[in-house]
Amino acid sequence: MIKIEKLSKSFGSKKVLDDFSCEIPEPGLTVISGASGIGKTTLARLIAGLETADSGSITGTDDRKISVVFQEDRLFPHLTALENAAIASDAQTAERILTAFGLGGDLDKKPSELSGGMCRRVAIARALAYGGDLLILDEPFKGLDEKLRADVFEAVMEFSKKSAVILISHDSGFDPYAKKIIKL
Ligand SMILES: Nc1ncnc2c1ncn2[C@@H]1O[C@H](COP(=O)(O)OP(=O)(O)OP(=O)(O)O)[C@@H](O)[C@H]1O
Ligand SMILES: [Mg+2]
Repeated sequence: MIKIEKLSKSFGSKKVLDDFSCEIPEPGLTVISGASGIGKTTLARLIAGLETADSGSITGTDDRKISVVFQEDRLFPHLTALENAAIASDAQTAERILTAFGLGGDLDKKPSELSGGMCRRVAIARALAYGGDLLILDEPFKGLDEKLRADVFEAVMEFSKKSAVILISHDSGFDPYAKKIIKL
């Protein structure tokens, strides 16, 4: 279990998190929702160790393989879909996931040749292929239609059978599948 205790984080005079505490169960899915600008990405970055808290603690994340899908795709423009997805894993694993996401025919295309939703799927595939025991997804379904959303969510659920998954989403449709729902 990941335990967050009395976490506070400010940017300048703006207090984003104020004595925030919660527990993230594992394995399983935790959904984090809340208004734009409330601090969801900040919390995710703190859990991933990409940001330092002003005070408070996060325990249970040491020595972990953490996989993150950022709010932006962050793909390498000069690499193909397959090369991007395989960057932290291997081509076979990446190809299997890309194919499951409907990109089997687009493996050799560069991000500039892909649609927004296709790039999104490459970014998610990269994180899933990397594996790890904590997966953090920040608004992963942007630009995906209902069918793709369901396919990607199924892959995420499969992942959360053995690992902790933190899903930041405005869509309350995933709440029924969550072990824990955090509203910021
Ligand atoms: N690096 C930073 N420097 C200054 N302010 C920041 C920084 N990162 C975030 N903030 C501020 O912290 C607040 C929370 O931002 P955050 O990105 O965590 O929100 P969010 O809940 O993810 O919003 P959204 O749903 O729009 O993605 C915002 O007011 C934002 O301007
Ligand atoms: Mg955000």
